[in-house]
Amino acid sequence: MRYPPIDPSLFIQNRNRLKSLLNLHSLAVFHSSDVMPTSADGQHPFVQHTDILYLSGIDQEETVLVLCPDAVEEKHREILFIRETSERIAIWEGPKYTPQEARELSGISSVYWTREFESVFRTLAIESETIYLNTNEHLRMEPVVETRDMRFLKWCMATYPLHHYDRLAPLMHHLRAVKAPQEIRLIRHAGQITEKAFRRVLSFIQPDVWEFEIEAEIIHEFLKNRSRGPAYASIIASGKNACILHYEHNDHPCRSGDLVLMDFGAEYAGYASDMTRTVPVNGRFSPRQKAVYNAVLRVLKAASAMLTPGNALTEYQKAVGQVMEKELVDLGLLSLADIQNQSEAAPAYRKYFMHGISHHLGLNTHDYGNRYRIFEPGMVLTVEPGIYIADEGIGIRIENDIVITTDGPDDLMKDIPIEADHIETLMYSKQRNDI
Ligand code: GLY
Ligand code: MN
Ligand code: MN
Repeated sequence: MRYPPIDPSLFIQNRNRLKSLLNLHSLAVFHSSDVMPTSADGQHPFVQHTDILYLSGIDQEETVLVLCPDAVEEKHREILFIRETSERIAIWEGPKYTPQEARELSGISSVYWTREFESVFRTLAIESETIYLNTNEHLRMEPVVETRDMRFLKWCMATYPLHHYDRLAPLMHHLRAVKAPQEIRLIRHAGQITEKAFRRVLSFIQPDVWEFEIEAEIIHEFLKNRSRGPAYASIIASGKNACILHYEHNDHPCRSGDLVLMDFGAEYAGYASDMTRTVPVNGRFSPRQKAVYNAVLRVLKAASAMLTPGNALTEYQKAVGQVMEKELVDLGLLSLADIQNQSEAAPAYRKYFMHGISHHLGLNTHDYGNRYRIFEPGMVLTVEPGIYIADEGIGIRIENDIVITTDGPDDLMKDIPIEADHIETLMYSKQRNDI
């Protein structure tokens, strides 16, 4: 393993929290992700379903987790099904979890082979009244590819048509939105790896480096520090590319006088970090770039301060919009007429800041969380204001990851250089030494 095993008390606690939300005499089933094909016999590297990680820590394909808290036999109350290995699998793919390893990692004592699933499931289905199934209900997702969970759902509802069915997704969204201290430690650690990568590229960036060369430095630093790699595709966008919100081509040279926006974050032990910094390619912001940069930074600071228990995403987004509106007026980008003509559905600031201010962060980069839920201690959110002025070739976003606590916002990225002058000092001293 790349990282020290996570204490199974986390998974035990997560399962107990979920079980406390299930109806009496019910059964919950979670399937791992598929190994996704590319074309011909190609496959993407396996990426585990984060609900399986959250509830068991088992990072292996063909895993099924069944919870049946009221099962007559105690051994049936929590069952993990894992892929049975063979000599052939051992030669081609390497070791798979032994039942004992799976027990130790997950804290689940009943471990069976996946091929035994249907017969064990039948016993439990007949004992149960409600079957909870897992569907992808992430707001930003339009499911196109059929998952193992969906294939199972079709089979299960056809085979057991008279059971009551219920959804796991709202329960998982509820639970996962509030992080345990162990989870926060892992997200913090992922952020520390991201910091190392940022410091590395600060002394690497200079006029005419290519965006992908910066990306390569970042990935190098991630892997060296036990990350499996980026938690999401890195955005390295110089000049006007920074105004393309999901720019991932990273295939342009960075020119002196331009800025380069870098949105990247390391994965660590399954957890994501998510950071953005925007720096001048030649080590010096122009006066206009610095004015826009400082406006974005002020919005970041104002927004971070609003991440307190009791606030909520919708009100918070509105309040941040007002701070942004003032900054855009001061920068001469919005006129008073623009402000007078705006509506609640179409605020004027959207012309230059067209994405959300925050999202939950955890096992997924855009983690689960209900947007109407009041903020609670233990929630981890990003703060990521940006101003994108395509006509001027300026796109600036700054992003940190914040934990909501009763003592105020805990910025997991407070040690990562962010002030324009600090970034200039770090870059300029290096570039001068190169001359
Ligand atoms: N990097 C993805 C995001 O900031 O939401
Ligand atoms: Mn980001
Ligand atoms: Mn983000």
